[in-house]
Formats: sequence, structure tokens, C-alpha cells
Amino acid sequence: MRKRILFFKTLTDRIVRNNRGRFLLVLSAFCGLIVFNLLLSDYLVYPGKVVFSGLFGFIIVASQLGLAYLFGVNRGIWKYSSISDLILIVKVAAVSFALNIVSMLVTGLGHDALRILLVDHMLFVLSFGGLRLLVRLYRNVGPVPSTLKRVLIVGAGDGGDIACRRVKHDTTQYEVVGFLDDDPWKKNHEIHGVKVLGATHQIVEIVQANEVNEVVIAIPSAGPALLRSLAEKCFEAKAQVKIMPSLSELSENSATFEIRNLKLEDLLAREPIIEDLSSVRKTYVNKRVLVTGAAGSIGEELVKQVAQMGPAIVYLLDQAESPLYFLFRECQVKFPNVEFVPMLCDITDHWALGRFFKQAQPQIVLHAAAYKHVPILEDNIYQAISVNVEGTKKLAELSKEHGVERFVFISTDKAVNPTNILGVTKRMAELLCKVFQENSKTKFIAVRFGNVIGSQGSVIPLFTKQIQQGGPITVTHPDIKRYFMMIPEAVQLVLFASVLGNGGEIFVLDMGKQVKIMDLAVNMIRLCGFEPNTDIKIEFCGLRPGEKLYEELYDETEKVCPTKHPKINMAIGSIDDSASLLKNINECAALSKQDGKMSELYKLLKRVVTTYQLAPSLCDEVIKEKNV
Ligand SMILES: NC(=O)c1ccc[n+]([C@@H]2O[C@H](COP(=O)([O-])OP(=O)(O)OC[C@H]3O[C@@H](n4cnc5c(N)ncnc54)[C@H](O)[C@@H]3O)[C@@H](O)[C@H]2O)c1
Repeated sequence: MRKRILFFKTLTDRIVRNNRGRFLLVLSAFCGLIVFNLLLSDYLVYPGKVVFSGLFGFIIVASQLGLAYLFGVNRGIWKYSSISDLILIVKVAAVSFALNIVSMLVTGLGHDALRILLVDHMLFVLSFGGLRLLVRLYRNVGPVPSTLKRVLIVGAGDGGDIACRRVKHDTTQYEVVGFLDDDPWKKNHEIHGVKVLGATHQIVEIVQANEVNEVVIAIPSAGPALLRSLAEKCFEAKAQVKIMPSLSELSENSATFEIRNLKLEDLLAREPIIEDLSSVRKTYVNKRVLVTGAAGSIGEELVKQVAQMGPAIVYLLDQAESPLYFLFRECQVKFPNVEFVPMLCDITDHWALGRFFKQAQPQIVLHAAAYKHVPILEDNIYQAISVNVEGTKKLAELSKEHGVERFVFISTDKAVNPTNILGVTKRMAELLCKVFQENSKTKFIAVRFGNVIGSQGSVIPLFTKQIQQGGPITVTHPDIKRYFMMIPEAVQLVLFASVLGNGGEIFVLDMGKQVKIMDLAVNMIRLCGFEPNTDIKIEFCGLRPGEKLYEELYDETEKVCPTKHPKINMAIGSIDDSASLLKNINECAALSKQDGKMSELYKLLKRVVTTYQLAPSLCDEVIKEKNV
């Protein structure tokens, strides 16, 4: 029987997809129904007697058919018929009824005909409504059940209702087997004919007992902690997890109620805190703001958040032309009331920077331009010092000279007890902020934090690519851990820190707990619906030169001090002698440009950044006087 229905479905599909075929099919169905209704109502009211015939019968058929087309009863996708389609049919019946009464009075047909007309129009509503319902049921007959994905919906509230309707629409792929809800009252109740099977602590057993393939978490208010615990149970049950958009996603109104795959970001996110941004807005409104490294992961988010504060103008500075162009275009569309100026500039080009400051006179500088990849910088020390140290120094000098109000330097946890050139150069830049603060009206502020999720070149895009290629995933060490934060959260805190500071501070963002990269890899594999080490292998490739097992946020010489923001602390430490520090930093830059001066350079770097822990392997290389 099911096979026969599917055969007719394919046949009608073909007719329906052809415009002429569809028109003829609908026209003949409408005509047939209207004539049939008229004859039936005649028969029901006066059996054996034909009241409507000839011209008047034709008027009724023509008016109902004409109005049905005029009101668009034939339009819309019948598969998705709803109450609004029924209302349309009732409207057509009402207008046709009124018109026919008028024509009845004109033609002089009396009381008898009125009853038939009434029954006929009631039959019109019933038959046209019923026809749409039948088509909807018929079109929703899917393939044989064994090929359908079996879906369990967590949350039998408003979210569950929407999710169920969404999933049930696609009867060619999915079958909803039940709901889960922690409200005991809902147990065994039904939504859209689907039963609430139990509570969320029963996920594993219910998934296994009902051979569920996919679990849809339909609780828009679910925070990261609840999502994590539900996802863990789904992973244990070996079911794929999907979610409805969260309340915050919906409030951004970019999201619709589409069901999407659970992402790693959902699991790593932290409970959001409601921020009062008025103090930040006050600082940025009507200001000329320069963002360096604007086309990078952090720079781009800085630009977008600053744009929402009503700045006078935002200068987008970056050396990468194409990403800068795309950002500029995106910003113009997203923030039509803000002026953006793209500045294609390398921060090592001191002449270009000087000319820009003279012309633009920025009032706030957010400095995120940097080189940031540990293994690359280990072998490119000159470039690391040139961009991360000398570039920062030039920007700081110009900011001081041109009376910039705030200079905010984006630092990293790698600057703490650094074991690599990236960390050393970022620490040198932190120290430069302190040096330039002396006798300055500009407030020099450094903000330090750990990894952000999904930035260019980070492990998450790398793992995603490796999974797409079928594995293996390469993890450097089974015990390696890192701090992680969402980019928007980190940037929001950077902007808060920028207004908290009076100058000379190093602010450190509260990064929560460190995450084992191994756990991250396992979760990412499971989120993609695979089993770690069965479907996708995890391989250990060993720590790279200069890479640490754990990152730190403070060194032993720094005192941790809270601020009035619960997620921002201060690392209090002092510098000895600014003049000699500056002299040594300049000398490091000079040495990095000379051949055969490696060991001298490393020794000097160690003198400037006393916490620098040179890796033993590098010590040997230094001794060998490797050319840079
Ligand atoms: N990504 C992270 O996880 C993370 C975490 C903490 C701190 N940080 C720090 O934030 C900063 C930005 O990181 P990101 O992840 O956005 O990096 P990114 O590589 O995405 O962006 C850096 C941007 O700076 C630009 N840039 C580099 N050198 C430049 C130069 N000489 N002149 C002009 N522009 C230049 C690049 O073109 C790029 O667009 C870095 O200093 C990094 O150390 C990053």
C-alpha cells in the first residue's frame, strides 16, 4: 500500500512541478468539487428536485471558481496548509454567498434557493478545507520508516513545540519518537501526537531503548552548564546532538528558530553576565578610534563592538589588504551610521604611521596587530621583534606625542614566564606600555588573556579541518591544557578594562578553568557524529619548540589584585629602570638585525624579560650561533 502511495506521489510530483499541468489539475479539481457540492446540496435539501440549473447554476459555479482564483486559494504550498488557508476559504465562501444572494434576488428565485445556497457554501468550506488537509497528509507520506532518523526532543515546552513541528515537517528524513522533560506532570502527555517519555536523567536509557539517532535540545534558555551535562549524556548514548538557538542568539535577531548542530563554542561558553555598558559607551562615543590588526580575529571584533558605542570615526589599520577590504565592506553594511576608514599600513613602516597620526589624530588606540604563531616566530626572531616590539613602541611613541587619551595593548598569557619568542616579545611590549606611561597624559593599558575560541590558526579550526579530512587529529601532548574564551566575551572585557585603567596597568581577564586539549579533540569528534579513535584517530605529535604544557596568567613577581569588574583582575608588578629597559629593548632590536649575534641576543632578551625560560634545546642552538 505504502509503495503504491509513493508511486502516485512521484507521478503527481511530476504533474505539479509543471506549471500547465498544475493549473489544469487544480482547475479540474476545483470545478469538480464546486459542481458536486451544488448537486449534493440540492439533493440534501430537496431530494429528487433540481432547483439550480441552467444560468443560475452556472453563476454559482463561476462565482465560486472565480473568487477562489481571485483570493488565491490555489496559491501557497498545499503541503504546508494551515489555519490561514482555512480562513481564506471561509472568506471566499462568505463573499460568494453574498454575491449569489444578490443575483438570487435579481433573478427572483425565492426562499427555497436560500437554504440550498447556505448548505452549498458550507459544503464549499468543508470540501476545500478537507481537500487541502488530504493533500497535506498525502504529501507528507515519506519513505519506509527504517531509513528515517529517529529524533528525541529534550524540553516539552514552547521550544519543544517548535522543534517538533520543524522536525515533523521533514517527514522524508526524520521521525520524532518522543520528548524528555524534567517536569513530572508532563510525563505521558503528548505534543503533536508525540509522547513525553521521561526526564533528562534518563537520556541514555531512552535513547538506547528507542534506537534514537539524534537528540534535539529544545531549551532556548539553557545555559552552557546545562548544555554540557545534556551533551555528555547524549555522547554517552552515542546519539548526535542538535540544538535550538539560545535566547541570546535569538535576541541578536540574526538567528531564526532553525535547529543547528551543537558547536564546541556552546560547550566551552561560560554563563553570561549582564553587563552595564554605559561607562564604556561614555568613553567611546564621538571619539576617533584606531584599531590596529583590525582584520584579525580580535581586531575585527574590537571594531564591531566599538562601532556600537557611537564613535565619530573608526580607523581600520591592517597590513593584510583583502581581509581589510572585506571587513571594511561588512562594517559599512552593518553600521551605516558609523564612518570607517581603512588604513592599509604595516606598523613597522614608521613614516606611514607618523603621517597617519598627524592627519587622523586618533583619540583612542586599540592595538591588536601582531605576529602570534609560536613555531613560526621561533625561527623568525627579527620579524617578531620588528612587529611585536618595535611596531608597538612606535605606536606608543606617536600616541604619547599626539595626546591620545587611551592606548590599549592586547597581550597574551604567553607573555607570562615566556618559553618562546612570541611570549618574550609580547612581554617586552607590556613593559613598553609601563615605560611610556611615565610622564604621560596618555593612559597606557595592557590587557592579558589566554586563547580565544575559533581565532585564525587556532586548534579548533585545525581540528575541524582534520575531522573533515577523515582524521587523524594531531594533539601535541596528552596533558596539554589551555585557557579558552569566546572572542566577543574577551573583547567586551577588553573594552571594560580600557575604561577601568588610569594608565600603567596590566589587566588580566578571568579565563575560568584550563581545558585539556585532548578533551577538546574528543568532544569535537563526537560533535561531528564520530567515535574518537574508532572513526577518527587521535595522534600525539609532541610539544613544539617553545611550547608549554600549561599557560599561566601571572608570574611569581606579580601581585593579583581584583578590580571593580568581577572578571577583570590586575597584575601588579614594577619595572626597575625605564631608561635602561628602553635602551636594552632598542639594543635587542638592533641585534636581531645582525647575523651571528644569536647568543648575544638571547642573553639580552633574558636580561630584559627576566622570567624568560629558554628551552634547553634552544640553549644548544644559541651556542652554535645559528644565523637568524
Ligand atoms: N588569538 C588568540 O587566541 C589570542 C589570545 C590572547 C591574545 N591574543 C593577542 O591578540 C592579538 C591579535 O590576535 P588575533 O588572534 O586577532 O591574530 P590575527 O592573526 O587573527 O590578527 C592579527 C592581525 O594583525 C595584522 N598584522 C600583523 N602584523 C602587522 C603589521 N606589521 N602591521 C599591520 N598589521 C599587522 C594581521 O594582518 C592580522 O590581521 C595578538 O597580539 C595576540 O597575541 C590572541
